[in-house]
Amino acid sequence: MRAVVVDASQELTVADVPEPAAGPGEVLIEAEAIGVGYMDVMRLRDGSTSAGSIPGLEVLGRVRAAGSGVPEGLIGRRVLAQPDFGGYAEQVAVGADRLLPVPDGADPVEMVALGLNALVAEGAVHRTGVLPGDRVLVRGAGGGIGVLATQIARARGAEVTAVTSSPERAERLRALGAAKTVDRTRPEDTYGTYDVVVDTVAGPRVREHLELLRPNGRYVLCGGVGGVPGPDVFEPLLRDFHRSSTLLAFSLRSVAPEERGKSWERVLALHDGGGLAAVLDRSFPLTEAAAALQWVERGKSFGKVVLLQGQQRFP
Ligand SMILES: NC(=O)c1ccc[n+]([C@@H]2O[C@H](COP(=O)([O-])OP(=O)(O)OC[C@H]3O[C@@H](n4cnc5c(N)ncnc54)[C@H](OP(=O)(O)O)[C@@H]3O)[C@@H](O)[C@H]2O)c1
Repeated sequence: MRAVVVDASQELTVADVPEPAAGPGEVLIEAEAIGVGYMDVMRLRDGSTSAGSIPGLEVLGRVRAAGSGVPEGLIGRRVLAQPDFGGYAEQVAVGADRLLPVPDGADPVEMVALGLNALVAEGAVHRTGVLPGDRVLVRGAGGGIGVLATQIARARGAEVTAVTSSPERAERLRALGAAKTVDRTRPEDTYGTYDVVVDTVAGPRVREHLELLRPNGRYVLCGGVGGVPGPDVFEPLLRDFHRSSTLLAFSLRSVAPEERGKSWERVLALHDGGGLAAVLDRSFPLTEAAAALQWVERGKSFGKVVLLQGQQRFP
């Protein structure tokens, strides 16, 4: 089968590789749409992806075979699979506990555009207990996770301020429900104070964003596009102890399958009810995965980038 493989210089190349087989507890998925996100960029750039391995954390496709211990009834079902690696390929073998159901008739590209990003966004909003009327700031709001966090917080009745980098992106975020926007490239743009900050960026500016929390505010770090926060990041929490601020990290890797399943149910219910739209940036053929990753790394995408078998489908 065709797959996208990491070579010795950490570049992506297209190769013919042996088809995987479903081992015990696994299913074999035939991929239709494959999610690309900043996590793929980070893994490639930090050297944690070994030469010869196949990247890819998120695949929507049909179950073609089931290994021992897996119900045969899964065969033929369309699922969203979240393997640790191996997703940039025509087929992937993945543990049956890494599958999420996809409703009949759902658009595969929309489902993968929600996928992992929606679970991060929903998990971050859920864990910070966003309530109606809360003021929520979303950093990285134009990204794959951010466009969904903006909508999910809005759907909970929050007043969302989206941080972004251009008037065009700001306008698109307002159309998705952001009440206000801040352009991070314009020093004259001012922030307010917030009950919740959803931060997909991190980096050296975490500390100044922590200063924006109102009493009993919650700050969730769920990404690191901007790098590692500085060493003095906790100083505002200690100095303003009387405000009872909470700083928490949220990684999907820590979320048990049952909790993931419940979060996915909430995502689908919101999507069905019109409160959450998948935001597709563009698709690339699987064989152009390197270009897709470069596109995400350049920070130009708005919403989700997807790899498809065959030719480019959108925009
Ligand atoms: N917690 C988890 O379990 C989990 C799971 C998957 C991914 N992640 C992480 O979440 C982060 C976001 O992923 P994503 O796929 O949503 O990324 P993305 O689509 O590339 O979006 C990130 C957005 O952040 C903004 N941005 C980029 N560089 C920035 C900078 N230096 N300072 C401030 N803002 C900047 C850009 O939006 P604007 O230009 O509009 O500001 C960009 O669109 C990544 O670090 C990824 O590894 C976490």
